Amino acid sequence: MHQETNSVPVMPNLLANLAGAAARPLDQAVTLPPKAYSSDEFLQGEQERIFRKSWLCVGRADELKVPGDYLTFDIGGQPIASIMQRDGRIKTISNVCLHRSAKLLKDTGNCGRIVCPYHAWTYDCAGQLLGAPHMEQARDFRPRELHLPEIRTELWEGWIYATLDNSLPAVAEQLRGLKNRLAMFDMPQLVQIFRKDEVWHTNWKSLAENFMESYHLFQLHATTVEPEMPTKTTVCVEGEPAYCLHHFWGIEGSVISTVHPSKTHIHGEDRRKYYDACIFPSHLVAGGHNFVFWLSLYPKSSCQVHVRWGVAMAPEHLADVENRENYFKETEAYFDLVNREDQTLLEAMQTAHHAPLTKPGRLSHFERPLWEFQKYLARSLIPA
Ligand code: FES
Ligand SMILES: [Fe+2]
Repeated sequence: MHQETNSVPVMPNLLANLAGAAARPLDQAVTLPPKAYSSDEFLQGEQERIFRKSWLCVGRADELKVPGDYLTFDIGGQPIASIMQRDGRIKTISNVCLHRSAKLLKDTGNCGRIVCPYHAWTYDCAGQLLGAPHMEQARDFRPRELHLPEIRTELWEGWIYATLDNSLPAVAEQLRGLKNRLAMFDMPQLVQIFRKDEVWHTNWKSLAENFMESYHLFQLHATTVEPEMPTKTTVCVEGEPAYCLHHFWGIEGSVISTVHPSKTHIHGEDRRKYYDACIFPSHLVAGGHNFVFWLSLYPKSSCQVHVRWGVAMAPEHLADVENRENYFKETEAYFDLVNREDQTLLEAMQTAHHAPLTKPGRLSHFERPLWEFQKYLARSLIPA
C-alpha cells in the first residue's frame, strides 16, 4: 500500500492506478483513471509536486520588446510577472503586493512603475518598493528594504521559462536533447504574430494530452489540419524525462508545409517535416519550418485551465507576406478554428470524466506521448 508522505493527501488509490497505468508496456497502455481529470485533491498534488517544481513557459521572449513590457502568469498558484528591465534583461517577480496581497499587474502590457490597485503601494519594474502612502506612522517601516520576491527565470530557444524551484537543473540542460532534435526548425528566430489568453472548461491534462498526439487529426480536424498534415504520417519517437515528441509530414505542395526556398541546407522529406512536442508539464509546441503553434497551460481548478497560446512565424517566411494585416487575420482565424474544434470536444469530455460508467480506455501506438506523459506524472507525483 502506498504511504503518503507529503502534506497534501492525494488519494492513494488514484496514485496506485496511475502507477499501474504507467508501468504497462506501450501495446497494453491505457488512459489515466477518469478521476485524475476531475479530482481537486489530485490537482492539489499536481500543484505541489509538478507546477511548483518545474520550469513553466510564460511566453515568447520577443513579445517583450521595450523596458516595462510584461507578461503575467501563474506557476503553482503563485502569480508572477515577467518584465523587461531597463538593460533589456527579462526578470520575473512575484505579482502579489507586499501590503495585503492584492494582485498587482493584470494580463499583459507595459508598466513604468507598478502601482497596486488597492492602496497604491508603488514598485519599480524590478520589484523594489518605492513608496507607500500614509505609512509614516508605521514604526520601522522602510520601503527601501522591501522587494517583491524574484523568481528564477531563464530563456530557452526564444521562450521565457520561470520556476519556483531553485534546485532544478537549467532549462537548457533538461532540454538539450530536444534542442538538438529541433535544431533545423530554428525556433529562436521565430517572430510572434499573435498571442491569446483563454480559459477552457477542461482539466489541464486533457488539453496537454490532446495536443501531444496527432491521432485525432483525421477525425476531429478532418477539414482543417488533416488535409495538410495527415495522421497516418505520424512517427512517435522516444522522448526524454523532460519532454515527449512526435513528427509528421505535410503533404507535397501545401502552403504551410513547405520550407522557404532560402533554406537550401534542408533536404528531402525534412523539407516537409513537422514536430509536436510537450515540454513537461504544460508547454506544447507544434510547428514546421515556417511557424510554431504553441500553448502554455496552468490549471485554475480541476476542470478549468488557463490557456496561453499563439503563433510565431519564421522571419524569412514573414518577409514574403505582402498584406500582413490580412495574413495575420487569416492565420489567427485558422488556428482559432482548430482550437475551437479541440475545445468543444474537450469540454464535453470533461463532463464525461465524472460519469459513473467511465473507465480507462486503451491507447493507440499513435498515443505513445500520452504513455510517456503518464510515466512522467507517476515519477513526479508518487514519492520514491
Ligand atoms: S494591497 Fe497593495 S497597497 Fe494595499
Ligand atoms: Fe487538436
